[in-house]
Amino acid sequence: MDSDNVVRIFDTTLRDGEQSPGATLSSAEKLEIARQLARLGVDIIEAGFPAASPDDMAAVQRIAREVGTADGPIICGLARVVDSDIRASWEGVREAAKPRIHTFLGTSDIHLQYQTGLTRAEGLEAVRKGVSLARSLCEDVEFSPMDAGRTDKAYLVEVCALAIQCGATTLNIPDTVGYVTPEEWQETISSLIAETPGGGPGSGVIWSVHCHNDLGLATANTLAGVLGGARQVEVTLNGIGERAGNTSLEEVVMAIRTRPQFYHVTTNIESRELIKTSRMVSNYTGLAVQANKAIVGRNAFAHEAGIHQDGVLKEASTYEIMVPEDVGLASSELVLGKHSGRHALRARLRELGYEIDDEELRQVFARFKDLADAKKTVTDADLEALVHDQVQGVQEFFHLVDIQVSCGTMGLPTATVKLACEDGSVVVQPAVGTGPVDACYKAIDAVVEAPNTLLEYSVHSVTEGIDAVGEVTVRISPEGEDRSFGGYGADDDIIVASVRAYLAALNRMLAVTGAGGRTPEGRVATVSLQ
Ligand code: KIV
Ligand code: ZN
Repeated sequence: MDSDNVVRIFDTTLRDGEQSPGATLSSAEKLEIARQLARLGVDIIEAGFPAASPDDMAAVQRIAREVGTADGPIICGLARVVDSDIRASWEGVREAAKPRIHTFLGTSDIHLQYQTGLTRAEGLEAVRKGVSLARSLCEDVEFSPMDAGRTDKAYLVEVCALAIQCGATTLNIPDTVGYVTPEEWQETISSLIAETPGGGPGSGVIWSVHCHNDLGLATANTLAGVLGGARQVEVTLNGIGERAGNTSLEEVVMAIRTRPQFYHVTTNIESRELIKTSRMVSNYTGLAVQANKAIVGRNAFAHEAGIHQDGVLKEASTYEIMVPEDVGLASSELVLGKHSGRHALRARLRELGYEIDDEELRQVFARFKDLADAKKTVTDADLEALVHDQVQGVQEFFHLVDIQVSCGTMGLPTATVKLACEDGSVVVQPAVGTGPVDACYKAIDAVVEAPNTLLEYSVHSVTEGIDAVGEVTVRISPEGEDRSFGGYGADDDIIVASVRAYLAALNRMLAVTGAGGRTPEGRVATVSLQ
């Protein structure tokens, strides 16, 4: 296939995806996800919004240095059409072998009037200045007329033509509020390509679409954009993002792959990495994937009805339009046993794509040994769950030392937790709850003293069987606030996994709200770590 038939996959999980409520990622997690995105074969990683905060800047710079190698993806940083944002974006990505600045301005009358307070003429001037500055710094410049779905068509053509004239090489057309429908979007994209001076076939300009899912149409609209001539799509893993989210990478990629005679395009994605990438993003963001989510949901390839099972056993294509192995759903293999050593574990983790440092290896190895004792068969999926739990890279204001729970039909569910605090002390705290998890969370709350609301708690098993590793994701929000923080925990004991997830979310919350590391005076029992 020639390059006109390759749809570039622009992944914005680390930028638009991270804007999902509760999806704050540590820079260690961002780097791991970026490495995995490179293995997945995305063409462009939007690594963040460098002007937003020093943390964002540092994460983008690190990804640019470590993932943006010559044979790796383009690394992109977002910027408003504002001088300081554009310079910050360049500072973020400049060390990548293939850097890109992505700059944007809201161009609908609603955005111009209420957000930036610019007239249409002033909007054009801002685009001229912003794109020209970006192009003076970087060869590869993308421009987005934000809220293009509700922008006057003639004005949209004018803005796009100006951006191309000032040096933009990719024109990304966003449906920022998820408003458009597939038929009209295909027409919008094809007419823009045809009517924008300097943007037609042979101009070298790549047209792109960026759709949000407010009406559940993001994937359909993105594919309609491809039919209209777009050769870049902006997507996130699991479709995470603002409000109802962005277009889901896995859905677009597998639609293109499953229906080549219809779309006549291809992508550079290694589809067998999809499940793994989806799990990593879900575990690190604390945003659980719904069971029936297309491609990556737990039930996406499960057949329940007898007639379906019978059909699939006779001939898989009766009810399967995709091969589960093609998305990375190979049955989990036994990889290591309880006699396996540290080197074998490191080697297997490397094969799975995890580069962890010596201290992380020591911790993962200790937990692997416990798991191998309890479970006998340790699979790749189990190992990944342990690594995701261990390598969250969040500052630990409170760390789980031990936990003991008593529950059942007689008596009150009671938990005693032993937590190591940031100041070096260890606190032992009992509590009674409505169930064992509630008792644990109450005991932790009594130590941490950071009032919050538990918004979401979900548990599921990594593999099948009674001895499976359990994964827990939780989302909490500080009392009286809208923002939320996610946490992930994995263990063969789901109470322990629940505690790990809750502590991860609390530590994340404390890192942002700055209220962590309280002194343990006055607790039930205090033991010095020294
Ligand atoms: O949704 C949107 O319009 C965006 C732009 C910044 C591209 O995310
Ligand atoms: Zn967006």
